[in-house]
Amino acid sequence: MSDRIPLLIDTDPGVDDALALLMAFNDQRHEVIGLTIAAGNVGLKHTVRNALKLCEISGRGDIPVFAGAPEPLLHPAPDAGYVHGQDGFGDIGYDAPAKQAETEHAALAILRLSHQHAGKLTLVALGPLTNIALALKLDPTLPRRVARFVVMGGAVTAHGNITPAAEFNFYFDPEAAHLVFEAFERIELADWEATIAHGLHHERVADWLRADSDRARFYAGISEKTRLWSIDRRGDYWYAADALAMAFALAPEGTLERALRPLAIELEGAHSRGASVVDWRREGGQPDKVDILLKYDQERFEALIQAALAAR
Ligand code: BDR
Ligand code: CA
Repeated sequence: MSDRIPLLIDTDPGVDDALALLMAFNDQRHEVIGLTIAAGNVGLKHTVRNALKLCEISGRGDIPVFAGAPEPLLHPAPDAGYVHGQDGFGDIGYDAPAKQAETEHAALAILRLSHQHAGKLTLVALGPLTNIALALKLDPTLPRRVARFVVMGGAVTAHGNITPAAEFNFYFDPEAAHLVFEAFERIELADWEATIAHGLHHERVADWLRADSDRARFYAGISEKTRLWSIDRRGDYWYAADALAMAFALAPEGTLERALRPLAIELEGAHSRGASVVDWRREGGQPDKVDILLKYDQERFEALIQAALAAR
């Protein structure tokens, strides 16, 4: 058996998810053992198809893809098709992938793989936490078998991106986020505000996308719409949230600053549903469970992306 670290990724691809997946496929220290798919950026039908297509383009058709929950646990939520394209991959009309998803449900696959790789597994969540919450409901002992759990989500000083206070992944399914943050003793968090602090200059990204590789060509196509949207809405820098979370997961030694604090998910509130409330001053006496990424080595982050795009 390989001595690489087993990596299970729960994701809702999504353009920035796709970049994170390319980084994971390209990493020598980790072995991607499966993709469990959530609804989020767009509907489940699209996110599953996008995951299968990305594996195919990357020559990683061997990675099993498991479809998960088609909607949040309790309340319907709007998707982010206006950012990622209505199909989540920039509406380029790619040919259908040859393979289909496995028949096993994502939540069951998470549990099975957690047993198979108990104590070694790195779990990375790049979308709404619905599948992981379902897995926890089926088997609350899941956290004991997970060595590292890295999550992209939240806005740790309430500078959200989908509402003033909330970030998209947690806002899409706050109940799931609440269950997950209650259950795990330690979560490594890359939030939206860290994303904003690690922007990628559009000209540099365009330059990387000229690399002579199938991956780069495909990625240039699927990301074009969202990059144009981002130039229009957000200026000179592009913000690839899931790619930063993946850098944090794959190469934690690139972390320059982090903070360990209690964190709760807001479920109510006219203005704050889905917000991640960090107890910065430790007023509430709750345990420090969440290891928050504050600063990552920008050069290293960009090098990981570049390498992932150029790989054949
Ligand atoms: C997160 O929301 C999604 O749109 C992205 O894929 C990322 O996971 C950023 O808030
Ligand atoms: Ca995502």
